[in-house]
Amino acid sequence: MADPARTVVIANIGVLVTHDPAHPRVLGDQPDGRPDFGTGLTGAWLVLGPGSDGVARVLRTGTGHPPAADGVMDVEGATVIPGFVDSHTHMVFAGDRSAEFAARMAGAPYQAGGIATTIEATRAASAEQLRQGLRRRVAESRAQGITTREIKSGYAASTSGEARLLRMAREVTSHTTLLGAHVVPPEVDADAFVSLVVEEMTPACAELATRVDVFCERGAFDVDQSRAVLEAGATAGLTPTIHAGQLQAGPAVALAVELGCASADHCTHLTNEDVALLGSSSTVATLLPATDFSTRQPYPDARRLLDAGAVVALATNCNPGSSFTSAMALVIALAVRDCRMTLPEALWSATAGGATALRQSDIGHLQTGARADLAVVSAPTPDHLAYRPGMPLIDTTIEAGQVVWRATGAWPPA
Ligand code: NIG
Repeated sequence: MADPARTVVIANIGVLVTHDPAHPRVLGDQPDGRPDFGTGLTGAWLVLGPGSDGVARVLRTGTGHPPAADGVMDVEGATVIPGFVDSHTHMVFAGDRSAEFAARMAGAPYQAGGIATTIEATRAASAEQLRQGLRRRVAESRAQGITTREIKSGYAASTSGEARLLRMAREVTSHTTLLGAHVVPPEVDADAFVSLVVEEMTPACAELATRVDVFCERGAFDVDQSRAVLEAGATAGLTPTIHAGQLQAGPAVALAVELGCASADHCTHLTNEDVALLGSSSTVATLLPATDFSTRQPYPDARRLLDAGAVVALATNCNPGSSFTSAMALVIALAVRDCRMTLPEALWSATAGGATALRQSDIGHLQTGARADLAVVSAPTPDHLAYRPGMPLIDTTIEAGQVVWRATGAWPPA
């Protein structure tokens, strides 16, 4: 919809995943007693147009003959899904750490200290270099079907530097997170740095972010330091979220639940108590299995969390150290193969789950009134996202009613 006042009907949809509980099951079976995430329509159409707020939205969905509209996009039997909601990324940075990846593949462990390498490169980069890298990564993520991206700061470790990264992130997303407490920079002592984050950086950056985050982990920040950072953020009006259980189980999940964090992210290493806490709280467990792939760690056990009643989100964690990818379909494939999720659960977690983690109700689904964010998948069912790992199946990505990615190949092939 180049003109936001126009209506467009997307017609001839083979499978339309809406996540509307009123719609029938269109994906694989869910084991008995579990919520059915795979709801939608077959042989469907979808009308996009301006909502009452002027934002491009889903106006109607249905099956059979499509209604008239100002424009028609015939997807010729392809699958349409809600755009992916990537609720955890660190996309503003400079430098390259492929040598660290190679060393890990040869047996070296992932260490939080590698973040300092990116801090050095990011501090040295010009605004134009940073902006260029960020824009390239946003384009890459659109080509993967991602229509919402959260972006953290965290590679400057100074007040003016973190503000600079947040300002840049705000050029491409409204979901920005202050991660001033990512790692202690080499030039300061840990407690002095936490005081700086709490007393100076957080008030100075609060206007530029919606959320606050901390890396609560061995080699980064302990639980008392993490609490101080998150409480300062909350006082400044930011929603808290936390890196929890990436390298080992620890106190971060309990802190997340106690402080009402929107999400606890990674959750690779959890105790039974952590699982029970997440299962009985509104803190979303955000899993980042591309990180565990890239750091050769065990994968998080999503089944254990889902069975305990936790809300699970999937995100890419796009960053130069532990997960340099925006391939959400790969994340879904890993979640299904290695984290014990079903395909409908994984698709829900990469869309509606991410939206829940970001506390956004109008994205991550395609019910009437949703923001016009969707991806056309060149496949007869969304199962192909995991069934055909590594294949470029995203044909078109529509973000706020605008086509932001179009594959050059035709669908279906001649
Ligand atoms: O989520 N764990 C902390 N932050 C990132 C890694 C950042 C880096 O290694 O540069 C993560 O994995």
